[in-house]
Amino acid sequence: MALTLVVGQAAAQPAPSGPAASPAQSATPWMNAALSPDDRAELLLGQMNDDEKFILVEGYFGANLRLGFIRPAAPEMQPILPGTAGYVPGIARLGVPALIESDAGVGIANSMHMRPGDTATAMPSTLLLAATFRPELAFEAGRVIGTEARDRGYNVVLDGALNLAREPRGGRTFEYVGEDPLLAGTMAGEQMRGIQSAHVISTMKHFALNDQEIGRGILSANLPEATMRESDLLAFEIALEHGNPGAVMCSYNRVNGTYACENDFLLNHVLKHDWAYPGWVLSDWGGVHSTVAAANAGLDQESASNFNGQGFFGAPLKKAIADGKVDSARLHDMLHRILRTMFANGVIDNPPGKTTPPYQADQAQARNEAEEGIVLLKNEGNLLPLTRTAVRRIALIGAHADIGMISGGGSSQVVPLGDTPENEFLVGGAVVILPGGAPVLPQGRHIYDPPSPLAAIKAAAKKARVSYDPGDDINAAVKLAQQSDVAIVFVKQWMTEGQDVGNLSLPGRQDDLVAAVAAANPRTIVVLETGGPVLMPWLSKVPAVLEAWYAGNGGASALADILFGDVNPSGRLPTTFPASEDQLPHPVLPGKDWKGGKFDVDYPEGADVGYRWLERQKLAPLFPFGFGLSYTHFHIGSLQVSAKDTISANVVVTNDGRRKGSATVELYGTPPAQDAVPRLIGWSKAELAPGESKTVNVPVEPRLLAHFDTSAQNWLLAGGNYAFAAGLSSADTATGATAVLTEQRIKP
Ligand code: BGC
Repeated sequence: MALTLVVGQAAAQPAPSGPAASPAQSATPWMNAALSPDDRAELLLGQMNDDEKFILVEGYFGANLRLGFIRPAAPEMQPILPGTAGYVPGIARLGVPALIESDAGVGIANSMHMRPGDTATAMPSTLLLAATFRPELAFEAGRVIGTEARDRGYNVVLDGALNLAREPRGGRTFEYVGEDPLLAGTMAGEQMRGIQSAHVISTMKHFALNDQEIGRGILSANLPEATMRESDLLAFEIALEHGNPGAVMCSYNRVNGTYACENDFLLNHVLKHDWAYPGWVLSDWGGVHSTVAAANAGLDQESASNFNGQGFFGAPLKKAIADGKVDSARLHDMLHRILRTMFANGVIDNPPGKTTPPYQADQAQARNEAEEGIVLLKNEGNLLPLTRTAVRRIALIGAHADIGMISGGGSSQVVPLGDTPENEFLVGGAVVILPGGAPVLPQGRHIYDPPSPLAAIKAAAKKARVSYDPGDDINAAVKLAQQSDVAIVFVKQWMTEGQDVGNLSLPGRQDDLVAAVAAANPRTIVVLETGGPVLMPWLSKVPAVLEAWYAGNGGASALADILFGDVNPSGRLPTTFPASEDQLPHPVLPGKDWKGGKFDVDYPEGADVGYRWLERQKLAPLFPFGFGLSYTHFHIGSLQVSAKDTISANVVVTNDGRRKGSATVELYGTPPAQDAVPRLIGWSKAELAPGESKTVNVPVEPRLLAHFDTSAQNWLLAGGNYAFAAGLSSADTATGATAVLTEQRIKP
């Protein structure tokens, strides 16, 4: 909803000063941008009548789909639903715009309201973004998303997803940022900061412990307070500090028995009190289960109330306040938080317009990201990079490499840029019209982001003959591999919100395909297009493996650049690749045979998620967290830790290979406690010319080495002797140092 002309004019005026204030300003004093967002919110709130006060606390599913479980929006609202994930009506009389919300973790999600020609830049999965270990790229990815959102008329972006990858089979692993709290918090926080730089509001989600999809609406994720503070909550805390998101989305699941959206501990105590969070809490879609409990526990806005029967925050909240079960001050606080955030993030002063986003530049940014996030896992005999003059016949096999690169499903699904005939076939051809409703993509449809690896590799190879075989008939694929100088096998694992993958094996006969092609051609390269880690029973037989994740609209070009050495790979694993599912804290996925009803998920790994769990169990993974190869070679020299006022380390790194490349110097620290295992406490990514040495400084955040003391309700950095190690992965800890730290208490 657009601002009225009067409000628009007032926004453009300078701050009122005494008698010179314009009539428009004195009529709408909250439009004075010189006042603080809190003051402006109060001035506006003071003008709201009782009915208006309930408008902003109840959102609707904006796409107006006629699906069985959704109550159709009121007839007067139907014409204005914007055809997207969420909509909260504004108050035109007071110049409060509607909140128009788009999912956008990996680009503007547009599959729910697919219209022919409605495409957006498909950014790589956020797990790939995490693999870049480059916070600046996370900011840029966010800026692209925020700008595309704004240019399309949205003012809220439902992004900032950073549940820790405790469960690598979790269907949203690709939408999250890995298993480590520092990496996840930093990268998601920078992405949110980038989004908000475009004057739109970003959420941070799913708060908290929505670490798997099966049973997500009912399961109770159980962790003791200290453990939670030192792992999942620490990731959110770090992200909040970096990104300052305007809204936090509480998750579907229960946490220690209580639904996250009515969880006083999470919302009131941790988020709003301890972290002094000034923004608002909105629910996940259909994640509210009560009025009084949710309102009093700190929920500020019910999203998609039409997912919840008659909803909880419209008439029922009015009644609860009238009955004295919810204090009217609570409603005031909800509104204050929403309005002050709208002012603070500029969505009132700078409402989004509609213009064509800079898609070409955005696609280039998506490509940059993919270039830094694709991980080289194996490169025996330096098979890669391919030499253009030596390779004449290249076989591409499998995973629709003739069409595009696979993307993940669910609410974050982007219908990608690109109007190639293939894309029309897979996207346009997949649109169905529900009776009387809007067009949607059928559930379970796999979308491939163009350009295709076939087109990109053909272009990059210049003279070589590049042939494609779908890989469905293994014999045919083997024949093509035998006739080629090099065989590149693409394998895929599709993940989606709403369901977990049954296991970590590549689906179908893809493992057999890889083994057969590798047996037929010793120069076989495997390109993994997966949501998260997978098992590789064929690994010892394949000389080269690249993990391309869900690489997005720039993915195929980035991959081609890496294959031919125009880009030196520098991605690092943001999550452990276990050697078998037996190594996981839950060898069997909790709730695997779930038939409905409540269940509990306890976490034997506690705060030691991922690589820390394996270290505690003394188990060797297939590939460790933080691992990734390069076409050059790096050497970590000396490590010096300084622990005076702040803790930091200086690490000498040398490129002793023959190509320019980027090294990610990772710093791990181990507290003196007997059962402590190393955890990532900082990193620095540095570009080095051949033969060059650099001393990189890695600042350390002390909370990562501390323990959360629940009785004192603060962090305790114990005094004692700490071990530090610098290396190129969590398993590379040869360069060590120790330092004595003095006891320190740190407030949350
Ligand atoms: C997802 C959220 C998403 C929302 C709106 C929910 O099902 O869990 O991540 O933002 O839908 O589409």
